[in-house]
Amino acid sequence: MPEPFYVTTPIYYPNDVPHIGHAYTSVAADALARWRRLWGDDVVFLTGTDEHGLKMQRTAEAEGITPQELVDRTSPAFRELTTLLDLTNTDFIRTTEPRHYEAVRQFLQVVYDNGYIELSTYEGLYCVACEAYYGEDELVDGNCPIHKTPIEHVTEENYFFQLSRFEDRLLQHYAENPEAVQPDTRRNEVLGFIKQGLRDFSMSRTSLTWGIPLPWDPKHVTYVWFDALFNYCTAIGYGTDRERFDRYWPVDYHLIGKDILRFHAVYWPAMLMAGGEAPPKRVFAHGFLLVGGEKMAKSGSNQVAPADLVAEFGSDGYRYHFLADQRFGPDGDFSHEAMVARYNADLANNFGNLASRVLNMAVSYCGGIAPAERVSGPLVAACAQAFEGARDGMDKLDYASATSAVWDLIRAANSFIEDSEPWKLNKAGDADATAAVLGDCLEALRVVALLASPFIPRAATELWCRLGLDGSPEDQRLPDAAAWGLGPISTTLDKGTPLFPRIET
Ligand code: MSP
Repeated sequence: MPEPFYVTTPIYYPNDVPHIGHAYTSVAADALARWRRLWGDDVVFLTGTDEHGLKMQRTAEAEGITPQELVDRTSPAFRELTTLLDLTNTDFIRTTEPRHYEAVRQFLQVVYDNGYIELSTYEGLYCVACEAYYGEDELVDGNCPIHKTPIEHVTEENYFFQLSRFEDRLLQHYAENPEAVQPDTRRNEVLGFIKQGLRDFSMSRTSLTWGIPLPWDPKHVTYVWFDALFNYCTAIGYGTDRERFDRYWPVDYHLIGKDILRFHAVYWPAMLMAGGEAPPKRVFAHGFLLVGGEKMAKSGSNQVAPADLVAEFGSDGYRYHFLADQRFGPDGDFSHEAMVARYNADLANNFGNLASRVLNMAVSYCGGIAPAERVSGPLVAACAQAFEGARDGMDKLDYASATSAVWDLIRAANSFIEDSEPWKLNKAGDADATAAVLGDCLEALRVVALLASPFIPRAATELWCRLGLDGSPEDQRLPDAAAWGLGPISTTLDKGTPLFPRIET
């Protein structure tokens, strides 16, 4: 029976069009999902849109339409990221779907019956863009610390979730599970926040109607974050299919941006504990992609649309840049020039050249039939290192080091060709020596196609085909498939056209 593996992205607010910041988490989650499938795991990969709340209601009001009309119009652009970026998400959830409505109401009732929700009056400072309350001390010049926009004074009779009762349990959970929040800087941030003391938070609203009514008091709608976080449970069958739910929960990885860490690493585990469910196994918070040193503004001039970059670099070129050239963890600056430079160096030159020179030479010198690799050729160690490096990188979600391990193999194979000069061996009529060098290179290319497939799936599959191999890299199983010596032998090779044409600036 394959092991279950469950990975999620945040569900995106569709009051905005998708930009590279949204797509960033989705591409990272996809590479992880593909990597785990190579290990034979039964992967559930979830993404979707977060459609309730004041932000959505106000955007709709400003346009003179209903919130439902708004989200029906804007959610599809997020769903389309799947096709655009070759994502292999197994589900796409919208929080306005009936399945979510039902699941949230069931969960709310459990938490309420367990005595963790009570009615009280609240006066507080609310940021609509964050859909969150702030304390006076957290404001920056009287503004929201994240959006730098004015904060609103709100007084409401609300139901409160008793977060304060979970301080000890959360600290104990994080002490027992040090990997539960990653990277370490984020873990320390979360521990610091919990240790300062947790305040109960209001989990219902009467000031708006756009949300899920509380089952025991339908004048109130559920606070958007309480509803949104639960999407992760709805999608795997909470309330309708307990067996399925227990198979995938707790989630292996919630991938999120650093701005929503508190919700995922403090509120969410406490909510789950209150409902008698296990907290997430791991929450990994990455940094922001900045454009010109600034966070992308909503509909701002510095927004970069994934579709524009895909048109220029292809979906593999897009994926490769955000995985290999941006560290997953700290903030990173997006620059078009850096993207072009890295594309030309790593994809057009290193990857593309290796594939085209090896295939071209094997077609002309060996009649297009793949010669065998040597049992212990000079590239055996480089292949083993590429696999180890990719595995270590992916275990830490360090995509940059995982890809760089694979590209080390590409560089090693290119140097091996330079050093052994098969064109000279061929010219001298040494057919055995020529075949030996090219056989080794073809086997290295197979390992490259396999290990690069989570990052650049199109080119990897195309290369696999050109090597004359059966099936696709996705059908292979690690660790066995990474072992040296599995072929291509006597397959018919196809030299094809350049996999990554150079981009001229
Ligand atoms: N709807 C909530 C998440 C609910 S999850 C139960 C939300 N949506 S969002 O659309 O505003 O942001 C979604 C994700 O995109 C967040 O993880 C956020 O960090 C990420 N990004 C938005 N802009 C970003 C960058 N410029 N760079 C990297 N990621 C950023 O929050």
